[in-house]
Amino acid sequence: MAAVTGSSSGFGRAIAIGYAKEGAKIVCADIRKEPLEKEPCEPGVATDDHIRKLGGEAVYVPCDVRSVTQLKQMVGQAVESFGSLDIMVNNAGAFTAFGPLHELNEEDWDVTVDITAKGMFLGCQQAVRQFLKQGGGVIVNICSIGGVVGLLYETAYCAAKGATFNLTKAVAIDYADKNIRCNGICPNYSATPMSADAFRTPKFRDRVEAMTPMGRWMEISEIVGPAVFLASDESSFVTGHNLVVDGGYTIR
Ligand SMILES: NC(=O)c1ccc[n+]([C@@H]2O[C@H](COP(=O)([O-])OP(=O)(O)OC[C@H]3O[C@@H](n4cnc5c(N)ncnc54)[C@H](O)[C@@H]3O)[C@@H](O)[C@H]2O)c1
Repeated sequence: MAAVTGSSSGFGRAIAIGYAKEGAKIVCADIRKEPLEKEPCEPGVATDDHIRKLGGEAVYVPCDVRSVTQLKQMVGQAVESFGSLDIMVNNAGAFTAFGPLHELNEEDWDVTVDITAKGMFLGCQQAVRQFLKQGGGVIVNICSIGGVVGLLYETAYCAAKGATFNLTKAVAIDYADKNIRCNGICPNYSATPMSADAFRTPKFRDRVEAMTPMGRWMEISEIVGPAVFLASDESSFVTGHNLVVDGGYTIR
């Protein structure tokens, strides 16, 4: 069974639905049950409801990844509902606004780093505590190309994603001999609710296309295959790896 944070919209929603299609039982963990307004996939239908409509099993658990209490309750709910927690996807992350460093305010930094980096640290910690009781498990962290290279006017986001990039390796090292794997995915820009406005801004959209050797934005669905691979036994000897899914953005 798998828990996905930030499961109501965007990449988290696609991964939760993708895992359910592979037969996993899903705990959908998010601060809100309904998708964000700009969600393109079945807007208005909650992820757990969508999964049940497809014939799968899912529960929604309210969970803010900044809260240890709520993360503990979420893991407890996973074990109570489905017997174990086998896969933890730390997907929730935050981006506030574009702007150069000298104009970035402290609140933007705090929110971005708190949800993106601290939230992932806490998610890894709670998952590992359960995995140690069970004898193993898999973590998939959703990082970003912003953890690999600098992105224009995204200082706080890049700093937070850099933290998640190396957190993934550090967690992998700590538990490599405990049957616990921890890997990351670093996606390029994709028109989820988080990046929908940027996608609709021609200058921004064109710049990303020009900087991406494959010449286009990432489809939201293109997160699913890599996330399935890293959670499955097909990647049984892969740990501490950050898989870039970026159409070549970070090659040069
Ligand atoms: N969309 C992109 O262009 C892009 C590119 C690279 C990486 N990412 C990363 O992918 C992940 C998912 O991004 P997305 O684009 O799907 O975002 P999104 O904003 O479209 O959806 C994020 C979901 O997370 C939930 N959420 C927000 N704060 C939360 C919190 N504190 N606790 C629990 N849930 C919370 C929201 O309610 C929402 O359902 C993030 O870590 C993001 O940084 C996104």
